[in-house]
Amino acid sequence: MINAQKLRQDFPILSRQIHGQPLVYLDNAATTQKPRAVIEALKRYYETTNANIHRGVHTLSEEATDQYEDVRAKVAQFINAPEHDPSQILFTRNATEAINLVARAWGGENLKPGDEILLTVMEHHSNLIPWYLIAKEKGARTVFVDIDEQGFLRMEEFKKKLTSRTKIVAVTHASNVLGTINPVAEIGKLAHDAGTLFLVDGAQSVPHLPMDVQKIGADFLAFSAHKMLGPTGVGVLYGRKELLEAMPPFLGGGEMISKVTLGEAAWNEVPWKYEAGTPNIADVIAFGAALDYLQEIGMETVQKHEQELVSYALRVLSALEEIVLYGPAKPEQRTGVVSFNVGTIHPHDISQILDSRGIAIRAGHHCAQPLMRRLNVVATARASFYLYNTPQEIDLLVEALKEARKFFGHVARTRT
Ligand SMILES: Cc1ncc(COP(=O)(O)O)c(C=O)c1O
Repeated sequence: MINAQKLRQDFPILSRQIHGQPLVYLDNAATTQKPRAVIEALKRYYETTNANIHRGVHTLSEEATDQYEDVRAKVAQFINAPEHDPSQILFTRNATEAINLVARAWGGENLKPGDEILLTVMEHHSNLIPWYLIAKEKGARTVFVDIDEQGFLRMEEFKKKLTSRTKIVAVTHASNVLGTINPVAEIGKLAHDAGTLFLVDGAQSVPHLPMDVQKIGADFLAFSAHKMLGPTGVGVLYGRKELLEAMPPFLGGGEMISKVTLGEAAWNEVPWKYEAGTPNIADVIAFGAALDYLQEIGMETVQKHEQELVSYALRVLSALEEIVLYGPAKPEQRTGVVSFNVGTIHPHDISQILDSRGIAIRAGHHCAQPLMRRLNVVATARASFYLYNTPQEIDLLVEALKEARKFFGHVARTRT
């Protein structure tokens, strides 16, 4: 069990006041807060180790290189990459860049006119736009699987749309709006049986549940450090080794070559073939501290804590008048993300009232405009939880929502 009250002491920002009230941070799907261990790792790196990696034959450079490469190995273990081989882990700027890397490097080489990329209506723009761009360039098509009324993927439709034309299936593991956890192991098996590749957008799953890339059959997995206690500016792409070896580089420059002559170049081995230029050394090293922190607690424990919070939130929120909740009814079928609307109040207005009470949620289309259209809304409000959140914070959210409803009800009455 997580003792969230105790654990909160590890997060300096959580003792902040916002508009004279204690911060209630419920915007974790956007980015999470950082424990002292991560902040200190960053500071320690700059105070004791800062040097460029892989190049220098001096102590600082060797230490920085070792620390950076150690994190690669930690990531390989964290997601249970085959044989925990670190060369299958590439560091990018974020999940978005990781997906762009696959679309550009793999898609640029392998997609042909008439090929299909199978996506879903619940994807984040990060797992849509890179595919739109490469599809247009290559004359390929994007195809979409719908959801049902509870926010689950329509698997029968998925099976029908998975054809010999499908060259890659790219699906989010967990929806950043609905919280739905998709049956990625089943999707992975279907994709492989159909002879196609499978990319998993793990931005909303790797931070929240135990990840095993082998179990889910992912050929590629993308996620971001900043959504799992780590610093901004670090993303991860896991790729099956033979795919990474076969694909051409994504970006060109220093570090990613083995030999350069005038007009010609040969590529470095994986993973360095995909890490052109000086990488985000300091933040990758601090990400290592975030992984240690999560691993110490255990991802099963993290998931259980979030399920308890979401179960409580669904119960107390659904008792509010005029509230519409989106996504699966059962907490075990979702992550700690709860999207909602209250009557006709615009989510931005809700968010503003909550902010005046120190409560941070997100309002808008959540970079999922096709899903908003599918839900027939322009926007939703979204509360999203993490390991340091408590049921008391959900009570504060509910109280503030009641106030918002009263206030806007009054505004509507005085207008008519
Ligand atoms: C499902 C999903 N995929 C991808 C992303 C993109 O993450 P980043 O902005 O860190 O690249 C997000 C961010 O919210 C997300 O929720």
